[in-house]
Amino acid sequence: MATATVTNAELLKRRENAVPRGPFNIAPVFAERAEGSHVYDVEGNDYLDFCGGIGVVNVGHNHPRVVEAVKAQADRFLHTCFHVVMYEEYLRLAERLNELVPIAGACKTAFFNSGAEAGENAIKICRAHTGRQGVVAFERGFHGRTLLGMTLTGKVKPYTAGFGPFAPEVYHLPYAPFFANPRKHSDEEVARLCNDALDRLFAYHIEPESIACLIVEPVLGEGGFHPLHPVGARILVERCRENGIVYISDEVQSGFGRCGAMFAIERYGLEPDMVAMAKSLAGGMVLSGVTARAEIMDAPGIGGIGGTYGGNPVACAAANAVLDIMAEENLPERANAIGEKVMALFGKLCATYDFAGDSRGLGAMCTIEIVGAGGKADAERAGRICTSARENGLLIMTASGNCIRTLMPLTIGDADLAKGLAILEKAFASVA
Ligand SMILES: Cc1ncc(COP(=O)(O)O)c(C=O)c1O
Repeated sequence: MATATVTNAELLKRRENAVPRGPFNIAPVFAERAEGSHVYDVEGNDYLDFCGGIGVVNVGHNHPRVVEAVKAQADRFLHTCFHVVMYEEYLRLAERLNELVPIAGACKTAFFNSGAEAGENAIKICRAHTGRQGVVAFERGFHGRTLLGMTLTGKVKPYTAGFGPFAPEVYHLPYAPFFANPRKHSDEEVARLCNDALDRLFAYHIEPESIACLIVEPVLGEGGFHPLHPVGARILVERCRENGIVYISDEVQSGFGRCGAMFAIERYGLEPDMVAMAKSLAGGMVLSGVTARAEIMDAPGIGGIGGTYGGNPVACAAANAVLDIMAEENLPERANAIGEKVMALFGKLCATYDFAGDSRGLGAMCTIEIVGAGGKADAERAGRICTSARENGLLIMTASGNCIRTLMPLTIGDADLAKGLAILEKAFASVA
């Protein structure tokens, strides 16, 4: 272990004095460097990372190709603003994403900074395209912390409580039955309940002719890693299409190989109208984007979308390297192999411990739920499991309080994966 010049405890004290409590932290440690699937803290501790900066480093920390692309671009120029002097990296990335999204026909892409901004801009573009105002989102969905982002988000604490008033014309569908577990709910039952929920929305809340778009995560991220039920997903796409409602797949967390395909919606064999993306798009650089058919994307007038930093050249260079790595290292396929190993352990844990309630996943976007009496969410025990894992060298975090989730780099080697899963298994035993 390296001799520490500064300790985590000293930095934590400074953090408490200088930074508000609002930005949450899952661990009281400070990074010194990171590489591949490992993060090293200022005291020299080596952590296996199953968080990946919350789903940002699917290609691993500091992938040499990403670092090289960033350095090369930094040597040329850091920023001109795409609105002032354009650059080819932006175009190249847009051209590649236009081909990669599972949308037929000619597409266009615009770049922004955060996932929340991708969602916001997706909605602006849909409103401009349809001339309609209504937006449909889901209970338990998460789309960011800006005004529209938190309005779309279907969870009160900690995301919206105390922050109102919210943006108008946003309607939420119930998360069940659309995210029902196919092992527990038949296709017929899900079809009936999903159609019924949409009928009720259209009859009692807003007429479909006034709805611009529906935004939905193929796998609820912060909402607890619930994948859409295949029948629920199909009904959503079909009924949007019937009613001229733009279907936005929010792939901010589920995209870029995580779920066993470049975009999770591909696993359903469905075609969205628009994809919102961020996180692993740029391997750790700040970048988000929206892609859709050209006629939709061209709806806002000149100057209606954009921003000073959107599509920053260094971030675009990083993203172009990420797309090369995804293809060359076959990361979407690797996600399935990782997911199989994770789900095998989760199955074993569910069979062993009463407090391990359910496990589910799509590719390497997996979760195991921690529950107490009567199947009630037990965030406290889930927290203790994560703490025990960290004390043994594994960074892992929850979604929705009690769902322990896996967002490890897809470049993780078999030995590190096995080691991380063994630490997690031990952490479960430690709280039994
Ligand atoms: C599905 C989804 N959409 C949007 C966001 C918001 O992204 P950001 O935190 O970059 O604003 C997140 C972040 O976790 C997300 O998971």
